[in-house]
Amino acid sequence: MRTKGGNFERWRLRARHSRHAVRTVDVLRSRSLRHSRRLAVPRPSAVAPFAVRALTFRFMRFASITGWGSAMPPAVLSNADLSTFLDTSDEWITTRTGMKERRISHVSAVELSTVAAARALACAGLDARDVDLVVYGSCSFEEQVPNAASAVQKALGAEGAAAMDLNTACTSFLYGLTAASGMIRTGVVRCAVVIGVELISRYIDWSNRNVAVLFGDGAAAVVLQPSDTESGVIGALLGCDTEARASLRVRGVGLGYGGRGITLGDTSWDFDGQVIFKRAVVAMCESSSRVLAQCGVSADDVSVMVPHQANLRIIEAVAKYAGMPMDKVVLTVQRYGNMSAATVPVALVEALEAGRVHPGSLLLMTGFGGGLTWASLIVRWGDRVTPLGTSSRELPPCTKSALEMVNEIRATQDPHGRSACGLAQPV
Ligand code: UT7
Repeated sequence: MRTKGGNFERWRLRARHSRHAVRTVDVLRSRSLRHSRRLAVPRPSAVAPFAVRALTFRFMRFASITGWGSAMPPAVLSNADLSTFLDTSDEWITTRTGMKERRISHVSAVELSTVAAARALACAGLDARDVDLVVYGSCSFEEQVPNAASAVQKALGAEGAAAMDLNTACTSFLYGLTAASGMIRTGVVRCAVVIGVELISRYIDWSNRNVAVLFGDGAAAVVLQPSDTESGVIGALLGCDTEARASLRVRGVGLGYGGRGITLGDTSWDFDGQVIFKRAVVAMCESSSRVLAQCGVSADDVSVMVPHQANLRIIEAVAKYAGMPMDKVVLTVQRYGNMSAATVPVALVEALEAGRVHPGSLLLMTGFGGGLTWASLIVRWGDRVTPLGTSSRELPPCTKSALEMVNEIRATQDPHGRSACGLAQPV
């Protein structure tokens, strides 16, 4: 015979090793109890835990962005620096991409992420122990197992929080934001840190001018918390154009390259810039207008557009199609280049710090990346646009110039050995 609350007790016992799992049960129970009378459904104690969970899922709250912070490496690599070892020029890079500079990190992607996440938590007025979930959105991983999110969780002091890596290349932050918002809205977690980070300088092919001039390092993070007022991600469209999957591939990283004598970090990039350019414009334009329509809003209602920053010409084409004047568009591409998963959150943080986001503002975030994955999100800002606090976490001082660091990485790469070890061949 079932005792009152017996199912919950059994579930709590099963989850006893994780304080977060227990906390989730508590949240589900309290919310279910609160809503059960209004719904005229059986009380939670009389139904199975899974049914309770399903009932809870019907009460959609919102996942508001309550904290934000970035961690940009201080070392700047200019177009002139690139010209010292590549057959390229400031004129070519500027006219074709809009880029002038990018950052090269002297610390690991985990360290960048930890500082960005600590700043985002301080901004939200929260402690690391409040965090239930860390999402590490990136394609820069130091190891495959254990995952990078668990390293950030540990460095942050977010003891026991769930830790998830998410790799959809340049759209990883947008996918992560969508996934974490869903988990908050369904009551699975209450506080999530979503990170967009990239450390491409460690595995870019520095001998290939087609790619070496385009990318940079950086990180930013946001904090998500439940809210009863409409805020956070209110519309999202995600997809993947696999016909162009082969147009962006990094050879040399991954299990398929094991046992072939390839030095870790020595890569060869398949990169068809023009194909990516065209498909990116189509995907971002179409998904932007579809997500606006899905939310019943127009471009005029959007205050700020935060696009992925792969190329200024791509951004201008998408903004024009979406009917968005350029003064509504956040641009970082000139100073940071393409930071893949970090581009959108870094641009968001800069928009907030510049006072471009106001309480209740509507934001359009759109991006694309290897896969070719794409994503367009509509975000309603909450009622706070200023930080509640600041973090004392800082990156350690950088003692080398960006060019010195790049030359050190170049010295470990072997452009002539790539075809010999089979890197140029498909796996
Ligand atoms: O976020 C996901 C990754 N991002 C992207 O994939 C970006 C999407 N693609 C693009 O942004 C552009 O296609 C690029 C910036 C990559 C290239 O611009 P483009 O206007 O499409 O140039 P292109 O590919 O038509 O190349 C024009 C010429 C070529 O020379 P030839 O064959 O005409 O003699 C290239 O070899 O420019 C040459 N080139 C360069 N010249 C100087 C390519 N890279 C460079 C360089 N410096 N760094």
